Amino acid sequence: MRLFQRPIPAMGIAPAVTHAINTGMSAADTPPIILVLNGPNLNMLGTRQPEIYGYETLADIDAACKRHGANAGLSVEFRQSNHEGELVDWIQQARGRVAGLVLNAGAYTHTSVAIHDALLAVEVPVVEVHLSNIHQREPFRHHSYVSKVAKGMICGFGSHGYILALDALSRLIKAPPALPQDIEEA
Ligand code: DQA
Repeated sequence: MRLFQRPIPAMGIAPAVTHAINTGMSAADTPPIILVLNGPNLNMLGTRQPEIYGYETLADIDAACKRHGANAGLSVEFRQSNHEGELVDWIQQARGRVAGLVLNAGAYTHTSVAIHDALLAVEVPVVEVHLSNIHQREPFRHHSYVSKVAKGMICGFGSHGYILALDALSRLIKAPPALPQDIEEA
């Protein structure tokens, strides 16, 4: 059985990004950019409900993501905002510029049609992350507007979820999953 790697079609993505996604490297041999976005109240990690979110700060997670990204040949940009519109702006600006997006939208996960629509518009693979297992918590946290448009979702592993998300994106970028028609009997 042979498995062909499926190059992704351009779909309005800038050629440099298409190249980066297909090869894992950009034309200039710079590593693909992964944007890690964090929503409201995540700036308070470390002191905010540590029994749920742990004692690590967002700066700790930022540093761990950059370290892990560098080892995996990825350039990680890490940002946080308490403002829905700013998150939407950053998602829009990711189009054609970044190879993947890790998103912990915080409470906007459960409320934001605007973030859902922005994610649909940019055509960048998204991995949704939550520190806590949102399905074990209050019913209003069970629905996610992000999941609908994400490649996948990781929740309940604390800050390690960000690392798992980087690994998932790294794999997706370097070898997009084959479609059934790409699989040939030897
Ligand atoms: C969270 C879960 C959300 O329900 C909550 O509003 C957050 C953090 C998490 O990482 O577990 O702010 O996204």
